[in-house]
Amino acid sequence: MSRLIVVSNRVSAPCVAGEETVGGLAMALSAALREYSGLWFGWSGKTLPVFTGDLNTQTLDGVTTAVVDLEDVDRDEYYNGYANKTLWPLLHYRTDLAAYDRVYGEGYRRVNKRFAETLAPLIEPDDLIWVHDYHLIPLARELRALGIKNRIGFFLHVPWPAHQVLTTLPGHTQLVQAMFEYDLVGFQTVEYLQAFEEYVLSQAHGGQPSADTLKAFGRVLRVGAFPIGIDAADFGLMLKSARARRMRDLVAAASVFRHLIVGVDRLDYSKGLEERFLGFEHFLSDNPDMRREVLMLQIAPVSRESVEAYQEIRGRLDALSGRINGEFADIDWAPLRYVNRNYRRDELAGIYAVARVGLVTPLRDGMNLVAKEFVAAQNPDDPGVLVLSRFAGAARQMREALLVNPNSPEEIAEALKRALAMERTERIRRWRALFDGVQRNDVTAWRDSFVSALSNPEEQQAALAG
Ligand code: ADP
Ligand code: F6P
Repeated sequence: MSRLIVVSNRVSAPCVAGEETVGGLAMALSAALREYSGLWFGWSGKTLPVFTGDLNTQTLDGVTTAVVDLEDVDRDEYYNGYANKTLWPLLHYRTDLAAYDRVYGEGYRRVNKRFAETLAPLIEPDDLIWVHDYHLIPLARELRALGIKNRIGFFLHVPWPAHQVLTTLPGHTQLVQAMFEYDLVGFQTVEYLQAFEEYVLSQAHGGQPSADTLKAFGRVLRVGAFPIGIDAADFGLMLKSARARRMRDLVAAASVFRHLIVGVDRLDYSKGLEERFLGFEHFLSDNPDMRREVLMLQIAPVSRESVEAYQEIRGRLDALSGRINGEFADIDWAPLRYVNRNYRRDELAGIYAVARVGLVTPLRDGMNLVAKEFVAAQNPDDPGVLVLSRFAGAARQMREALLVNPNSPEEIAEALKRALAMERTERIRRWRALFDGVQRNDVTAWRDSFVSALSNPEEQQAALAG
């Protein structure tokens, strides 16, 4: 079997159950690599005044991670700049927030080149290389320029937008052309795959379809949809841990006699947190008899703090949570508990387990693993109800959730009411179907279908059909 080299901006080391790592990519890759002896390469998250290219390598639980420090200016221009001020908003349909600065584009190219130059000497001829997410789209091009001939795959964890949105990006052609340097490009859902195909057919030089490949820029690219999952088995084990049980008891005690509604998200404008708070406010206004029966817990650790749009949404959420509690709280009850900190995975499992409703309402989301974690943590005999945004990639697979338009406080309020009133038999029926899907389409299935499609082109049809 070939060695697998995984490359991503963020690397989670060491890969131990229970660690605090926020973000779907790190969660999924730690789980995917746990049983695979490979190499995980990326940024250390640290910067130096001058780039050295020195690697810091460690091995734990069979996973070797190799990380490199970047330069101070790289953090501004590449990570905060092109990745999170330009591409992130654009890929999440927030063209109003997307900043176009030539310097960011230069920083993006420079860091991708630095990653390629640092990684190239570690690559052996039979290695499969699997690159992750929007930070590293041009990495294959940089590796090819250094003579790397290995099979290289790319997986996008976030949405791929409609071509009318993508074409607002200066330099969109070069970005897409760089994707044609891969052997295989994977998306989270069929919709994102179709949006990519539509872009290629309508905008790219020489773009034409052919079976499961796309032709453009004089090259042929295989593409597919590979929906990501969670490590459901590990989640089940974690639920039984002492920490999970302790957290479950703590949260149950704090919400005694009340139904707990829970939300867990990075503090990101794509997660629909303001709209969710407004939906909850609406629910409280419309249902005076239910007020003291519920408690909403929103966990939202701060993320990408140096980017203005993230500072602004944080300020708005502070004000909104204050307003809701000010309006409805009593001396012995406050409706909303809003917490800006990370929890260990086992603790999160314990929190989900107590909740009667999981409120997962991103405005756009590549997949959303929280929805799957919530389902995996439920008590089969008395499960909670998942309220899920139609615009999360997960909505395609999780049809038995209560699906809502996250932009509508009325729909969120209505779904909350319905979830809280739902009979146990219906809750069990919906949960069973959701849990089967979470178990079947887990992180191992995702990894195996992508890796086999990358290593073995003939198997791709099977992966796509699955
Ligand atoms: P994204 O990758 O955009 O952050 P996902 O929902 O796909 O969104 O993944 C988020 C991951 O981060 C989940 O595995 C979730 O458990 C984890 N996470 C989110 N909030 C917290 C938190 N407060 N503490 C620890 N982990 C968190
Ligand atoms: O899952 C999408 C994603 O952007 C990952 O690429 C990333 O690791 C995660 O969200 C968290 O973001 P960040 O690494 O910027 O904290």
